[in-house]
Amino acid sequence: MRAAWFEAKGPAAKVLQLGEQPRPQAGPGEVLVRVHASAVNPSDVKFRGGARGLDMPFARIIPHQDGAGEIIGTGPGVSPGRQGERVWLYMSQWQRWQGTAAQYTVVPAARAVELPPTTSFLEGACLGIPALTAYRALDCDGGVEGQNVLVQGGSGAVGFYAIQFARRLGARRVLATVGGAKQREIALSAGADAVIERHADVPAELVAQLGGAAVDRIIEVALGVNLTRDLECLRAGGSIVAFSSDAEPRPVLPFGAALYKDLRLRCLLIYLSPEVELRRAIAGVSQALQGNTLRHNIAQVFELEEIVAAHEAQERGGSLGKLLLRIP
Ligand SMILES: NC(=O)c1ccc[n+]([C@@H]2O[C@H](COP(=O)([O-])OP(=O)(O)OC[C@H]3O[C@@H](n4cnc5c(N)ncnc54)[C@H](OP(=O)(O)O)[C@@H]3O)[C@@H](O)[C@H]2O)c1
Repeated sequence: MRAAWFEAKGPAAKVLQLGEQPRPQAGPGEVLVRVHASAVNPSDVKFRGGARGLDMPFARIIPHQDGAGEIIGTGPGVSPGRQGERVWLYMSQWQRWQGTAAQYTVVPAARAVELPPTTSFLEGACLGIPALTAYRALDCDGGVEGQNVLVQGGSGAVGFYAIQFARRLGARRVLATVGGAKQREIALSAGADAVIERHADVPAELVAQLGGAAVDRIIEVALGVNLTRDLECLRAGGSIVAFSSDAEPRPVLPFGAALYKDLRLRCLLIYLSPEVELRRAIAGVSQALQGNTLRHNIAQVFELEEIVAAHEAQERGGSLGKLLLRIP
């Protein structure tokens, strides 16, 4: 099968290889999937680049956690009736070596979720990490029904789904911050009630938008940079669910301000989700897909052979949507 892989971590152009690999076989509890689309996530390029160490957990790694395709084989313990099912894939390469940047992959059966006929493979490949992270950030700790929700980075892959799921989960008002005018359009298209550009006085704008009320929950993509301002607009007893802090990886906690907001701070890593919460997120995403009203934001589709360019585009940032690979 045609595949991309790396055998050492480092720059995309240096370590990513393209060629032929043996087609995998489904083992116990697994399904074999003919992949049609594969997504590039920030964590895929960070991992390949060695952001969390250069050790290789496996001798060879076919990258990418997320993708979409069709089940063409089932291992022992999996109903053969699943053959022919269109699926979206999540965490395909988590603690495994075979991700979705290949014509075939094998995943535990639960990580291949039915994709309705109204959702394309490219759209299905967008879901995985971003959609599950967004859903869980809203659904955890009692959910957001009736609450004012702020999505920091509302045009990002996670943020775009977070705005949509906040609405579906019954939030009272959904607000988002963005870095500029193009991002504003994206966040509005996801259904945000109001979008604030980050160069503004965000807490003051929020209070104005909420008629003097405070924010109940903040979905935070840049904790270290935003924490102080987040605390200004959060209500006492409110929560911040932080899933990233790239620009300031060692955030400073202003304890007095946090204490006097009775802050509940959750650092969410989707890969370590308790099974019951992950199942709820998957069910929520599946339900949203059924109505065919969930929007997906695709910035660019590369061919598998262009994987280096796709990884470099992810690393440069500024793509304003998902970067995908079409698998031949
Ligand atoms: N913990 C987890 O389980 C988990 C899951 C998914 C992703 N992540 C991580 O989360 C990050 C984002 O992932 P993604 O796929 O959503 O990436 P993405 O599509 O590239 O989006 C990044 C977003 O961050 C926003 N942003 C940057 N600086 C900001 C700031 N100071 N305040 C508010 N927003 C800011 C950007 O806004 P503008 O473009 O408007 O500037 C953009 O919307 C990555 O670091 C990724 O590794 C973690």
